[in-house]
Parts: sequence; structure tokens; C-alpha cells
Amino acid sequence: MKKSFATLVVAAVMLVGCGRGDGRLTKVSLDGEYAHKVDSVLKLMTLDEKIGQMNQYSCDALVTGPATRDEDKVQQIIDGRIGSMLNLIGAQKTREAQEFAMQSRLQIPLVFGLDVIHGMRTVYPLPLAEAASFDLDLIQRTAAGAAREAASQGIHWTFAPMVDIARDARWGRVMEGAGEDTWWGSRVAEARVHGFQGDDLSDTGTVMACVKHFAAYGAGIAGKDYNTVDMSDVTLHEIYLPPYEAGAKAGAATFMNSFNDINGIPATANEYIQRTLLKGDWGFRGFTVSDWGSIGEVVNHRYVADLKGAAEAAVLAGSDMDMESRAYVAHLKELVEDGTVPMEYIDDAVRRILLKKFELGLFDDPFRYCDEEREANTVLSPELRALSREAGDRSIVLLKNSSVLPLAEKPGTIALIGGLADSKADMIGFWANQGNIPAVVTVREGLEMRYPSSHILYAPGYDFESGMKTHEGEHLAQPVNPAKIAEAKAVASKADVVIVAVGERGDWSGESKSRADISVPADHQLLVQELKKTGKPVIVLVMCGRPVTFGDMEPSADAIVLTWWLGTEAGNAIADVLSGDYNPSGRLPITFPRVTGQCPIYYNHKSTGRPENDSWQYITSYTDVDYTPAYPFGFGLSYTTFEISEPKLEKSVFGMDEQIKAVVTVSNTGSVAGRETVQLYVRDEVASMTRNVKDLRGIVQVDLQPGESRDVEFVIGRDDLGFYNQKLEFITEPGEFTLMAGSNSRDVKGTKFTLE
Ligand code: NOJ
Repeated sequence: MKKSFATLVVAAVMLVGCGRGDGRLTKVSLDGEYAHKVDSVLKLMTLDEKIGQMNQYSCDALVTGPATRDEDKVQQIIDGRIGSMLNLIGAQKTREAQEFAMQSRLQIPLVFGLDVIHGMRTVYPLPLAEAASFDLDLIQRTAAGAAREAASQGIHWTFAPMVDIARDARWGRVMEGAGEDTWWGSRVAEARVHGFQGDDLSDTGTVMACVKHFAAYGAGIAGKDYNTVDMSDVTLHEIYLPPYEAGAKAGAATFMNSFNDINGIPATANEYIQRTLLKGDWGFRGFTVSDWGSIGEVVNHRYVADLKGAAEAAVLAGSDMDMESRAYVAHLKELVEDGTVPMEYIDDAVRRILLKKFELGLFDDPFRYCDEEREANTVLSPELRALSREAGDRSIVLLKNSSVLPLAEKPGTIALIGGLADSKADMIGFWANQGNIPAVVTVREGLEMRYPSSHILYAPGYDFESGMKTHEGEHLAQPVNPAKIAEAKAVASKADVVIVAVGERGDWSGESKSRADISVPADHQLLVQELKKTGKPVIVLVMCGRPVTFGDMEPSADAIVLTWWLGTEAGNAIADVLSGDYNPSGRLPITFPRVTGQCPIYYNHKSTGRPENDSWQYITSYTDVDYTPAYPFGFGLSYTTFEISEPKLEKSVFGMDEQIKAVVTVSNTGSVAGRETVQLYVRDEVASMTRNVKDLRGIVQVDLQPGESRDVEFVIGRDDLGFYNQKLEFITEPGEFTLMAGSNSRDVKGTKFTLE
């Protein structure tokens, strides 16, 4: 890259979506209570001190990216060369580091960040699992619980929520988001931002949120982590960007860049998304942080020749803080001094960072989050554990049930099979680095607390070492162990019912954990088939952090319970559902394919010129597998049954700006109380751009007693019916639409109306 970025920025080119923005610096407006304070600090700062604020290092004790180590971090803090630390944890440790910051010339406090993704010491279900609860209030409360516990340990800032839309189950990080749907992902983004941040950043029970990874990190080609993202601007704006925008508008204090390039421009150096959209159109007043080393990786993308070029590209594009690339500390001074980077770019970044430090209350008292007593009273408190159990209950999805669940009140002898049922470490899943493993309740322990332990027999069933290993090839391809299968069958034959835990290990889904084959391991599948031969009812617990395929074991399972990774209270939550103490209410926030080759598979695809149908030839499908998924988006069973009516409208023709109210009647037609998630989808029948077959636009959850019916109301408007045209204008066209209501994206009943 030969041209100077500054030249490009001032040229104000407007090439939508390609990385060049419109040349605006997008200065943060500081008219609030801290305007004067921020500027008074800024005025005192040398260029070195300003660059120091834009520099973030990891604590050497915990590294969550390619490690860099320094002997003299303490001295660098004292010299004002570090503005933030990540991975430094604990009231005492953060206090010690903050004391060094107080020895610096201007005594600007450090801000401490950490990946608090689904809990701190108390771990909640994986974000994807929790999205299956379809319960925004719960999602907000667990984020608030995680924030309270993290803040009590000196943390000011979580690198969450991840709001990347994920349509490809091969991608390991699907576990960290809300799944495949844009509307639902946007609602979850808002709930998590509100949960982490509360109403007031200076409340010592809250932390700053960080919406990540900006942008479209979930769309890496072939589901490979960090991979290229290449898509139309329309798809970027319609499918991928809305959850980030929702997070920004919910008031997220920070954003994190993504590793990927988007249509040829690395996200970290992408001026269009950071300045034109985020800091311009969306009015974001926070600061952006790079992902770990992502400024340096702009060189690997071959977008710039060296680290200096990367620093220039990133800062001009709007990346305010450098996480672990060391590009800003190494090169920004020179770039400012030779006039390549105007000082106002540095000042804007530093203003944004200082503003958040003021809002956190750190200038009033830099030690306000370092309170050992509060830490001791908060960590793993009974209240947080109860919340984890509640979230676990609601995240479980019942996928199949041939009348074997719930278990009878006296189920007789239970054969519990599978090493996963006896593992603590796996239950917390990925991105729970601080989770307290000894505190985890295993499935075995949960069942032993619910039923007399003498009635529970256990066998591991497959090779399984206790504790969680790092993912290695042999892990994924464990050979069948005939002796363990024989032992499990012998145990099963002594029991009245068999419960078998299969699936991934806790660390098989997560960062850099993409899989080319997402099937349940072959030895687990065989185990289920062999157990079925005992003639006993077989209940399969599927544990995973992403959609998996069930292969040959599916017909041998009398029931399939998707338990994901549920965190600290996993065993209790699973026992709650198996026993019927909690009637399962989770619904899939992501499509489960039949085979990996169907990936990416998602419900809101286009019709195509040869729409899917049941003839096998010359349609958009495969010759060797059905075109339908194994389980569609929104799917989940209950111990009761529900009936959902078509949407009822007051009239069939609406004006463009009218609110459209739809009433749906939902009835509990079974014999126990239960919770249904009524889903509303829309479809634009004919439009000037090809449209998705349907799109989710609302959900309502209802708790119903047996025989009870209720009317639920949905209200939608023109924005719910619109789309981006080729000029990237958001438009709503008059014409015919169908509103559909149902219990999942496949089983819906529709009503047509016309928009004039
Ligand atoms: C890399 C990950 O992509 C990001 O999500 C995380 O916040 C950072 N590492 C820091 O651990």
C-alpha cells in the first residue's frame, strides 16, 4: 500500500462497504458532564502519554491470544505507557496494578478488561444455549449477575457480548453468540448490553460491555475461524450488521474489531464500518479496541507492508485501543511527528477512552472496584448459583421424546452412562476461564441429589480422561473401546432406564475450534446403538457448544435432550428437566443439520428459481440427503402439547405507516403446565429484490396450565417489512405479505395482507 491513509481520508471518498469511509473524523461529542474534565486531562498529556492510553497489554499469568511477554510492565505502567490491562483478575491484584498507575505523572487510572462471556466464577449456560431460552429478561439477569461477580473481582470491562450472526455450525464460535437470526440476535445484544452495564457505569456492580467482533466475524468462508468474509453489501447490512447497531444503540461503552477482512478490507483497518457507520451514523460515543493482535495482523492480510503501516491504517480507520499488537506504542509517535496521522485522530481516541474512565468513576476513586470484602461476598453466592440453575433449566431443548420423559417419580434403577455425565470441567464449556470447576454440579451428582443414589449405576461407556484436555486430533477421533461398551451394556441391563451423555468435549467449540465434521463422535453413536439393544428405554443427553449431527444413533434414542454446556449448575438443571420438575421450554436459536455437508444451513434463506420441494431432481438441494434440516430453527418440544392459531388481523389491507396488530391464540392441549414460545415470521411475497422465505419478527412466551388458552398480540410496522435495495436504501414496498405464527420456523400457519 503506497498511498498515505491520510490522503485517502481527507479525499472523502464514499465507496460503500469497501472500507473507505466518507472521510469524517467522527469526533466524539463531549457535551455531557465530563466534557470539561476530559479536556482538562487531555491538555496536560504529552504525546507519549496519549499513546499510552491507547495501548492495552495482557497480564502474563493468563493469555487468551498469541503470547507476548514483558519483564517491565510495571515500569511501563508507571511511565504512563499502558492505558488498560486485560486478564488481570482479583480485587487485590487489580489494586496492586492500579497503585502503580497512581505513581505515573498524571495518575490516570488503568481500566481492567476480561472475557466474562457467560459468567465469572459462577458460570451460566453458553451464550448460544442461553439464547435457546428465548427469555430476554433471563438473559439480561445473567449478564447482570456475571457483571456483579466480575466487578467484585476488580474488572471494569467485559469483552462481551459477541453478537456475530452465525449461519455455519462448523465455526467454533457459534457457541458465543445468539445463533443465526438477525432479529433475535439484535434483541439479545440489547439485553446483554443492558445486563452488563445496568443504568450507570459508575455502579460498582456493573461493567462496560464490548460489542464484538466488528464486523461479520461469524461469516468466515467454510466456517473457518479468522477466515475471509466476502459478501454483498446488502447481506452485510441486512443480516450481519443489525445486532452491532442494536448493541451500539443500547449504549454499549466499547466495541471490538474482528480479525477478518470484509470484502477485501481488514475490519481493524476498515474506515467505513468504524467511522462512517459506528461512530458516524450510529452515534457511538465509546471507544473501540482491536482484537488480540488484530492491528498487527493487518500486515498478515497483506494490506500494509509493516507494523507501522498497520498502526497508520488502524488509527485512521478508527481503532482507538491496540490490544497486544504493540503497533501504537511502537509507531504512532513517529506517524504523528511526520504528519501522517493528524494529532486530532489521537486526541479523539484518547478522549473516548478518558470519557469511559470518568464514567466508571475511576478518576474519583481508582480503587473503587478493588474491595476484597465485596469480592468474598459476591463470588459464587447462593443467589448467583440459583440464577445459573434457572438459566440452565430454560436453556435445555428437548428434541425427541417417545413418551419416556419425564422420568417416573420412582424410575427404578437408572443406568447413567458416559464420561461426560461425570465431568465437572466439561460442563462449563469454552470461554469460562475463571469458572470455578470444583463448584460445578455434574449430571451424576445432580441425579444423585434428585433420586436415591443407590438407584443410580454408572459406567463411562467410552474413553474419557477426567478433566478437560486441550483439543487435539486424537480427541476428535477416539477409537471405539469395546470393553467400555460391554461394561456399559452390562450396567444398562440391570437398570430400568438408561441415560447416556454423548457429544463434544467442553473445549471442542470456541475460538479456533472450527470442525470439518460436526457429528457426534462415532464411538458415542455406536454406544447409543448398543445400549438400545438391551431393550431398555434410552435417553440421550447431547452435550455440545454448536449444532452437531446425530448420525446413526438418532433412531436408537427414545429421547434426545440437548443440554449444551450449562455451567456451574449443569447437573441440577439437567435433573430438573429429566425429572419433570422443570418442563423443558428451550427452542433452537440455530438450525441443526442432518449432515455437516448441509452447512451453512439457516431457515431464512432465499426461495431461488428452483425452490426446495419434495421432488428430488432439479431443485436447490442435494442428491444424497434431504434438503430439510434435522431440527429447524425455533424447534423444541415440551412435556405438554400446544396449539397455535394463524395470526388474526383486524383487516386485510393496511396503509404504509399503519401499525399492524396480529392476535394469535395459543392453547395448552396437553396434561401438564408448560411454556410456549410463539414465533411470528413475515414474508414479502413479491419484491424488487429477492427476499428470504421468511424472517422472524417477534416472539411471545406464555406459561399455560393444561387446557388454558391465551391470545397474544404482536405489533409490527413498515420497518419490519422492509429491506435494503441495491443502493443500500432501506425501503418497504407496497404489495402482498404473509404473516406466519408457529412453534418453530417450519410449523407455521399464515395469513396474508396487503400493504398500500
Ligand atoms: C481473542 C478473541 O477473539 C476475543 O473475543 C477476546 O476478547 C480476546 N482474544 C481477548 O481474550
